[in-house]
Amino acid sequence: MENIDFSKVIDRTGFQSVKWERTAEVFGTCDVLPMWVADMDFRPPIAVTDALRQRMEHGIFGYTYPCESAVKAAAGWLERRHSWKVDNSWITFSSGVVPSISTAVNAFTKPGDKVLIQSPVYPPFMEMVEKNGRVLVNSQLHFQNGEYTIDFKDFEEKLKGGVKLFILCNPHNPGGRVWKRQELERIGNLCSQYDCLIVSDEIHSDLVHTPNEHLPIASINKDFLKNVVTFVAPSKTFNIAGLQASVVIIPESSLLDKFQAIQEKNGFHCPNVFGLTALEAAYHYGDEWLNSLMPYIKNNLMTAISYMKENIPGVKTFFPDASYLLWIDCRKLALSDKELQELLLYKGKIALEPGPKYGPGGEGFVRLNVACPEATLLEGLTRLKKALT
Ligand SMILES: Cc1ncc(COP(=O)(O)O)c(C=O)c1O
Repeated sequence: MENIDFSKVIDRTGFQSVKWERTAEVFGTCDVLPMWVADMDFRPPIAVTDALRQRMEHGIFGYTYPCESAVKAAAGWLERRHSWKVDNSWITFSSGVVPSISTAVNAFTKPGDKVLIQSPVYPPFMEMVEKNGRVLVNSQLHFQNGEYTIDFKDFEEKLKGGVKLFILCNPHNPGGRVWKRQELERIGNLCSQYDCLIVSDEIHSDLVHTPNEHLPIASINKDFLKNVVTFVAPSKTFNIAGLQASVVIIPESSLLDKFQAIQEKNGFHCPNVFGLTALEAAYHYGDEWLNSLMPYIKNNLMTAISYMKENIPGVKTFFPDASYLLWIDCRKLALSDKELQELLLYKGKIALEPGPKYGPGGEGFVRLNVACPEATLLEGLTRLKKALT
């Protein structure tokens, strides 16, 4: 059994870490504790580093192909962890979920077509639509009593307006929601009714906190299989985002052909050899590591929530259904987003994601990443208190 110690502080500086070494470029100061971008300060499972070492020791890194064993590892993971039986022929690979979203936008829509999102949401959803010359349509989520819900009346109105593609975030970043079966059924039915394809970004799906359960929208009924394109990855789950390998699941062969045609057009044929090696090892052998990670994250989330409740009046935060990101409601502090950032960066010396980056509905919020050793988290919470009290 692997000896897993998530409390060990590992210095990441000197290894091109965006989180630790790009705060000057992103926030204008480097003298801050970075608790922003969504990666973890933990090493991945030993099985992953062993597989990478073994591959590295072979010493020849010529062109590779996406082998059947990687496909089987991904399919096995989806069945084991999410009870989703995926046919091997539905699976292909990409260098990341964001590149996959861009590919999907190009494969399934034309310039000028409408693409729907639900803000506040992971910023590249908006960027991939607009940078590819498509028209962004937003059905903003409702926030009430610490929970995001979908305004289905507005959602349907937007679909009626001729939307071609809807990008679903499940589990939702930054809101932390794991969408329930009834919600997903309603989304799926409405999208089928209005002939709108669904791209489902399920990158946070392995990080769901019990008793919540992730339900891949494509798995809900046979009709949805024809209308849903799903993206997952081992990158968030096992902290290997820098290796750039993700999984694309497209059951409908005509859609898969269109997706792969755009990948080909862009000159993509296979993820990096190390990315694929890590993906396969993680999906084969990562269960035990992930089963140990989740209680550690849960504990950090509870620590952060109770600390804020006791020490920082004026901010409110809620336990997310999934992942390691806390979405903090600072609106009662009555500060502008600029003032809030200045206090965090220059008084507290802590870097958090500013809410407005996530689109309408993000104003007055910040996002805190708790995927770090407890000692780092406690230091961050002290800084947060200093900034906001
Ligand atoms: C919802 C969501 N999708 C995609 C990504 C990034 O995916 P990738 O690094 O594979 O492009 C993130 C990273 O935080 C995310 O939160």
